[in-house]
Parts: sequence; C-alpha cells; structure tokens
Amino acid sequence: MACLRRKKHCVQGQQRVSFSNFDHPRQSNMYLILRFFCPFSILFFTPIASVQAFTGTYGINYGRIANNIPSPDEVVTLLRAEKIRNVRIYDADHSVLKAFSGTGLEIVVGLPNGQLQDMSSNPDHALNWVKENVQSFLPDTRIRGIAVGNEVLGGGDYSLWGVLLGAVKNIYNATVKLHLDQLVQISTANSFAVFSQSYPPSSGKFDDNVNQFMKPLLEFFQQIGSPFCVNAYPFLVYASDPEHIDINYALFEPTKGIYDPTYRLHYDNMLDAQIDAAYAALEDAGFDKMEVIITETGWASNGDQTEAGANATNARTYNYNLRRRLAKRKGTPHRPKNVVKAYIFALFNENEKPGHSSEKNYGLFKADGSISYDIGFHGLNAGHSSLLSLKNINTQGLSRSYAMVFFLSSLILLIFWS
Ligand SMILES: *[C@@H]1O[C@H](CO)[C@@H](O)[C@H](O)[C@H]1NC(C)=O
Ligand SMILES: *[C@@H]1O[C@H](CO)[C@@H](O)[C@H](O)[C@H]1NC(C)=O
Repeated sequence: MACLRRKKHCVQGQQRVSFSNFDHPRQSNMYLILRFFCPFSILFFTPIASVQAFTGTYGINYGRIANNIPSPDEVVTLLRAEKIRNVRIYDADHSVLKAFSGTGLEIVVGLPNGQLQDMSSNPDHALNWVKENVQSFLPDTRIRGIAVGNEVLGGGDYSLWGVLLGAVKNIYNATVKLHLDQLVQISTANSFAVFSQSYPPSSGKFDDNVNQFMKPLLEFFQQIGSPFCVNAYPFLVYASDPEHIDINYALFEPTKGIYDPTYRLHYDNMLDAQIDAAYAALEDAGFDKMEVIITETGWASNGDQTEAGANATNARTYNYNLRRRLAKRKGTPHRPKNVVKAYIFALFNENEKPGHSSEKNYGLFKADGSISYDIGFHGLNAGHSSLLSLKNINTQGLSRSYAMVFFLSSLILLIFWS
C-alpha cells in the first residue's frame, strides 16, 4: 500500500529504461516498396521477409466489453501519448478501424470464434470478410494481422477444434487473392490449455488431444511464416496455488527462481519460463524455428476472495516490471536471440466482462481514462485524474476459462524444487 500512496516516488526510485515502441524498422513496408519497384525482388525476399504483425516489443489488447470506456478517438489520443504502437482488438469493429486511420498505430484484428465454422466452410465468406473488415481500411489503417479465433484449441468448445485450420486457410487464401498476404499476418492465440506440461520449461509439451489439431495448424503457420501466439498469465498460476508459488517469481521481483536441469538454465521469473515451455513444446512437435509471441499477459488489480494476489499493488509491480523487461529487448534463457514480445492485457478495466471479478480489472487504465496505478503512463486528462480513485473496481461475475490453471497446477508444486 505504501507504494500505491507514493507512486511517483516508487517509480523514480527505480531504474528507468527507454520505453519507446516506435523505433523499429517496419519490414513489411520495406518489402512492399521493393515489391512495387522491383517485382523480381519477391523471388529473393519471399523466404526471409515474412510479414511481421508485431513491430515493437510492447503492445496492448484493446478489449471493449464495457459500456463506459473512452471513445475510439480518445483511445487513439491515449495510445499515442503513451507511445504504444502495437494494438490488438478482438473483432474488426469499424468505428475502431476508422479511428485508427492515419494514426500510425499498428493493429491486429480478430475473427471471433462464432464465425469460424462459417469461414471454414465458405471460402467466399472468408473473402468477403477480409474485403469488408481489412482491405477496405487499408492502407490508412495499418491492419497488420488477423487473429483467427481466440483460445480455440484446448478450449471448451470442442466443435471448433476441427474447423480452426479450415478457417485459417480460407482467411489466408483471401489475403493472397487480395494481395494482402505480405502485409497482414495470420495467426491464432492459444491458451496454456494446449500444453500438457510446462514445468520445468524443457519439458514443455502439447496435450495429446490437442496435438492432432495443433500439428497441421503449425505446419501451415510454418509455411506462411506465422508465429506461435500464446496467452500467458503468471497471475493465474499464482492464484491457483498461492501457498506454494513464490509471488516474487511471478512478479519479476528478486527471488531465487527455478533451475531447469535439462536445459541447465536458471529462471528468475515465471513469464520467461512459460515462454521457454512453449518453445520446448514447439521443438517437441518438430517446429524448432517458430517464434513465440505473447498475445496476452497481465495482472488483475482486483478480484474475488478466491483470487489470491489480485490487488493493485501486485498488478502495478507485475506491469511495471514487465514493461522494463520488454524494454530491454532481450530473449529468454533458452532462446536468447528471440526478443520477447508481448501484448498486455488490457488497456481498460471492462465492466461488462463476465467471469471472475479479476476479468473486469485487468486494465492499465480505468474506464475514465485515468491510470489504474503508476507504471510510467499518464492517462487521459492527466492532472485531473485522481490517482486513488477506486471508481471502477467492482465485484460481480463468474467465469474466465481457468483451464490453464489446472494444466499448470501440476507444475506448481515443483516450482521451488531446485
Ligand atoms: C488456397 O489457394 C491455393 C492456391 O490458389 C489452392 O491450391 C488451395 O486449395 C486453396 N485452399 C483453400 C483452403 O481454399
Ligand atoms: C496484495 O497481495 C499481497 C499478496 O499477494 C499482499 O502481501 C498485499 O498486502 C496485498 N496488498 C493489498 C493492498 O491488499
């Protein structure tokens, strides 16, 4: 609590790192220019210059399941002021895509799970979807990716597992037809439920039931140069077994960490270990070259009684340390050359989100645009906002998919073994 009251002091007391997310060259643009002026360059560039949806290291998820958050135009103002360039949304809302036009913000749109079946069986619907929701906003709105489905494999709706790849292929083919395939990257976000093991990191493995769907999907992603996207929440792992997990390990705070005897590597934070577990699972499945991207990570600033660790102090610590971690542009112990890239969940607290109370309280910003806690951002109308406003913290709700928690709980008991 001391930290919460003296936020400015706490931030200044720690080492500052450059947080700029705007200084990476954008390969995709360069590629397009080359392709335009020199068609033969395609021959040389196609195998290496695969499209990059994520140009920085620090992105954010702009969820909108709320009736009280700022308008898309205000969101543009906020994101630009905070220098956050990379953004994901969970649909292809036209008011958002219009507001992002001409802003330089790079956005990944989502094809919702409810449309997967249709997109999988009807290539022409997929083509129309891409025309209406992607092509018509380019190039002014920098749509750089399409996330086809969210947490489908390993998730509760088994009927979607078998249609995901078909939808991915039809959406990809649509981008090829429209000559957008070198501009817009196709991916899907996975939860940790796709893994049967993730501790220690070297033992990372896909679940047997998931594998038959995952492997062909990864083969296709490998062909088109797409990364493996995963949502990783040290918070959920901690909340599932606070007795046995060192919260400092989950929060990037000083800790003895864990030792992976197979890799002979030491891990001082859980997120790095989760990423390397994903790399291990990919290697186990035969995809040694595929990059891992974190499409969601975050920490709730409030939650139900049962959700240990969901408070503003911990959320601030996690998000502050995560921001510093990403700004270092470093890889993980097992993949030191693959710079860690993550989209934070989430931009705002979302008051209409169903599920546990934590679901409504992941925002770096409150619904009025002010900061939820100080990690170096300023918020909309900075100066007017009260740092200690508790306005948007409420406590209703029922059910985020906690599947990953069960998969991870097996590893948890071992976390201090070393
Ligand atoms: C995608 O397009 C390629 C080449 O045009 C074609 O061979 C393939 O069958 C198409 N795939 C789907 C799923 O429509
Ligand atoms: C937040 O949770 C931690 C345990 O995870 C606890 O030590 C701390 O006192 C809590 N802070 C507040 C403000 O409740």
